[in-house]
Amino acid sequence: MRNIVTGNWKSNKLWDDAEKLMIDVATGIHESQHTDIFVAPPTPYLAALKAQSTAFVGIAGQQCSAHTEGAFTGEHTASMLKSAGAKAVLIGHSERRGTFGESDAVVEAKVHHALDAGLLAIVCCGENLEERDAGQHFEKVLTQLSHAFQNIDASRMSRVVVAYEPIWAIGTGRTASAAQAQEMHAAIRHHLVGLFDASIAESMRILYGGSCKPSNALEIFMQPDVNGGLIGGASLNASDFLAIVAASNEAATKEQQGG
Ligand code: 13P
Repeated sequence: MRNIVTGNWKSNKLWDDAEKLMIDVATGIHESQHTDIFVAPPTPYLAALKAQSTAFVGIAGQQCSAHTEGAFTGEHTASMLKSAGAKAVLIGHSERRGTFGESDAVVEAKVHHALDAGLLAIVCCGENLEERDAGQHFEKVLTQLSHAFQNIDASRMSRVVVAYEPIWAIGTGRTASAAQAQEMHAAIRHHLVGLFDASIAESMRILYGGSCKPSNALEIFMQPDVNGGLIGGASLNASDFLAIVAASNEAATKEQQGG
């Protein structure tokens, strides 16, 4: 299975820096190897940065509207992202769920819009520190996914990716251990068997996000149920991001060679 590495720039970078970063990333990758690579810039730059994207580095949206087009001032639809050149979109990032109050129902609606638009839907899930300390992390994450996928036809799941991002590891420098990541990813895959079936669960990519950086990426990506990463802070620096992509390719190569 091919890995995915996506850089989520969040609300960072003014235009000149954004363009330079995109050029540095795109010119640093000359072949796809075993990893599909996306960059999710701030939305105002998306269409312009499409010009710098390549066959190996695609553009993604950081979110999309829960509505279709119409009188929704300030919103951008999944179809608009697609028509501006995006190939994928993040949905239900914890910062959207937390700071912007996106409910499970909103996340579910966005997944449908993303798939209707022909985008790859990267659906985020994750628990906060309180929930982890209380031992509720599996319940929290699996419930989020049950809601997000409850009305999705199984035939569409090949266009869906899961990103597990423990909130306590996002931007904190604190990373889930490789064992903690693997444990949750295995639970997610097992849950997908119940929601769909074993062959869909086996073929789905489950990404890890949360202070993933060049120094820890390989160990995390080597876990059997980790299929790449969703990278925040380290994606703002081209050489760090390229090193993480290289780690993904190395992990995937080793996996294909049987360890
Ligand atoms: P950091 O890599 O900065 O922890 O952010 C993770 C994230 O939220 C990516 O979507």
